[in-house]
Amino acid sequence: MFNIIEQYPVKKLYNLVRLQRAGDILLSGLKMTLSEVNLLLTDQNGIKALNEKWLQRPWPTNVISFSPAYDEHAPISHQNGFLGDIVISVDAGCREAEAQGTDLTTRIEQLLIHGIAHLLGEDHEQGKQAAGKQAEKEFELQKLLMKGGMQMAELCVNIDHIATIRQARGGVEPDPVHAATLVELAGADGIVVHLREDRRHIQDRDLKLLREIVQTRLNMEMAGTKEMVSIACDVKPDIVTLVPEKRQELTTEGGLDVIKNLVATGDAVATLKAAGIQVSIFINPDKKQVESSFSIGVDCVEIHTGRYADADNVAAQDEEFERIVETARIAKEYGLRVHAGHGLNYRNVARLSPVADIDEFSIGHSVIARAALVGMERAVREMLSLVKRGMPL
Ligand code: PXP
Repeated sequence: MFNIIEQYPVKKLYNLVRLQRAGDILLSGLKMTLSEVNLLLTDQNGIKALNEKWLQRPWPTNVISFSPAYDEHAPISHQNGFLGDIVISVDAGCREAEAQGTDLTTRIEQLLIHGIAHLLGEDHEQGKQAAGKQAEKEFELQKLLMKGGMQMAELCVNIDHIATIRQARGGVEPDPVHAATLVELAGADGIVVHLREDRRHIQDRDLKLLREIVQTRLNMEMAGTKEMVSIACDVKPDIVTLVPEKRQELTTEGGLDVIKNLVATGDAVATLKAAGIQVSIFINPDKKQVESSFSIGVDCVEIHTGRYADADNVAAQDEEFERIVETARIAKEYGLRVHAGHGLNYRNVARLSPVADIDEFSIGHSVIARAALVGMERAVREMLSLVKRGMPL
């Protein structure tokens, strides 16, 4: 468990989402996800006070690690999961980042790695050999970050509801093809459309044209029916997301029950994969659904976030959040890529964006609703900021 405590007066200087993901990736790479590390981000005076109080060094520094293992009288030890506290001076980080020609978040990551190496027992102050050992450990941790795909989550925008507006009058505008271009120009990582059996919004023509013009990634949501599988094999989107579909529903109501529909879903997956299309399945946050999805050879799972989004009290939201985090962790253990979506908006996404095991968010209604009022570019950029930085533009 990696916790960040912010005690720095200026916000927006560093990317908190990236730091949280970095801490989680490091602990998971070290197989220490059950251990606790706290990171305090403070200023020059804050770190000076701690340096003086605990280490009798009355001056500011850039990073300090406090490990219970250093103190034989400490009530807590590695055994019961507490690895220690790391304190980083953001002021020192700013100066050092400038001197290195790097950005502040990267410098804080380096200091975090230095701090974790100390918590793991390295101590460069004990001489040349010890310094060499610590440098090696830090290199190893840096590699873990890179290997863990130290990337921010991607944002794919579902543009179905541009087509919904068009279908309201049965005319030609607005055109989802135009919308896709604007979404891509605003920096989104992919375009999602759901070709429904009843064609209530996206039409076959849209899908074909989108295949021609989308330059990022085209994700086609669909039911695993014969008709849809055949269309997908013909159009060849980059990825298909299999979803359950009911005619009467307003939107996809729940995940696909892969366990109940194992054979039919498995056949659809096999046909799509044979056509060279990656396959994802939209599932409820549930370990058994992940296991069944894995057993039929999917590349990804998309975790349904609807219950998290709809939770009407903090306790219920916490419970759903934990369920999503745990399901994402399990899916990653199976080597699957993890998407998440449904009901996410400008208020509830920021809690999920630091979850390192989520690779991609699929968000539709709230982005299109905002785009209707403030324009597509701004709506997408504001959502990107929440996904990549955890804060509004
Ligand atoms: N993911 C899937 C599988 C969906 O069916 C939908 C809705 O079309 C979304 C994500 C996006 O949901 P929302 O429109 O609520 O953002």
